[in-house]
Amino acid sequence: MTRWARGGPGDGAATAAAPTELFGRREETAVLDGLLAQARGGSGGALVVWGEPGIGKSALLRHVHGQAADFVRLSHSATRPESDLAFAGLHGLLRPPADRVELLATAQAAAVRTALGLSGEPTDRLVVGAAVLSLLCGLAERQPVLLVVDDRQWLDEATALCLGFVARRVGAHPVVVVLADHSDPAARPWEGVADVRVDALSDESARQLVAAVAPLTDKATTRNMVRDAGKASDTRAMNRLTAQEQRVAQLAAEQLTDREIGVQLRISHRTVGHHLGNVFAKLGINTRTELSHLHAGCEPP
Ligand SMILES: Nc1ncnc2c1ncn2[C@@H]1O[C@H](COP(=O)(O)OP(=O)(O)OP(=O)(O)O)[C@@H](O)[C@H]1O
Ligand SMILES: [Mg+2]
Repeated sequence: MTRWARGGPGDGAATAAAPTELFGRREETAVLDGLLAQARGGSGGALVVWGEPGIGKSALLRHVHGQAADFVRLSHSATRPESDLAFAGLHGLLRPPADRVELLATAQAAAVRTALGLSGEPTDRLVVGAAVLSLLCGLAERQPVLLVVDDRQWLDEATALCLGFVARRVGAHPVVVVLADHSDPAARPWEGVADVRVDALSDESARQLVAAVAPLTDKATTRNMVRDAGKASDTRAMNRLTAQEQRVAQLAAEQLTDREIGVQLRISHRTVGHHLGNVFAKLGINTRTELSHLHAGCEPP
């Protein structure tokens, strides 16, 4: 298992250079392509693509953007310096169709104008959400709409709330909203929006990626790169566990039963089961055998 590191974060999805081939992301692209197909059929949907830095979220966003040439495509990559600027994200997203603002109901047009910095009237955030939804649905009457937001972790709160509102309501219209985020979107403002966790590439896909970006790399170097990247990613995953979860994981990896672990750590076997559930969820695994492999992979050579 390999999480693929890269230069700096925030490359941007739709604005980046033409996509190179995407390796080993069949399930994720099927979900994204399914959303586009659904929109071509008249109904929309939203998806948060999440995973650790460098895992390949922007690459997936580039894929969906590339597949949607028949859509009105609106995209924005949030940036850290603008994360405290209310509606900076909306400004980035909506600048192209801003001329359509005037077609909205008066209160909504005023709210969007204020959010986009076009006037100074006070903004009611519910009205902005409703206005953006109307704007997108209006655009979608002629052509399906794809809205892509990369690096959502840096999106200003006002835009995030607005897009969460929109994402939960696009089902009846040919509007697709896709966002990339570093962390689990279970909490506000994405509660109720579908998500897909982007996990490590398989070693085989990682090898293909190395061959594509550095074709002159010899086999031994490729093997070492894939192994080191895999180890580093497993270690990062382990480091996300709490201290108690790490103790439970260590003992479970040694194939102790819940009761035996409970005795060693002086906690009940039910508590062990609870911790182990968290460990499996955080590591994205289902069995103790997978845990043992992961543990073995994290040990120094
Ligand atoms: N499955 C893949 N096939 C081909 N190239 C990939 C794949 N996954 C990632 N890459 C490449 O690896 C690099 C890092 O991926 P990407 O930028 O998509 O990560 P990210 O998850 O968006 O990171 P961040 O959270 O820092 O923005 C990019 O150059 C990307 O094109
Ligand atoms: Mg990215």
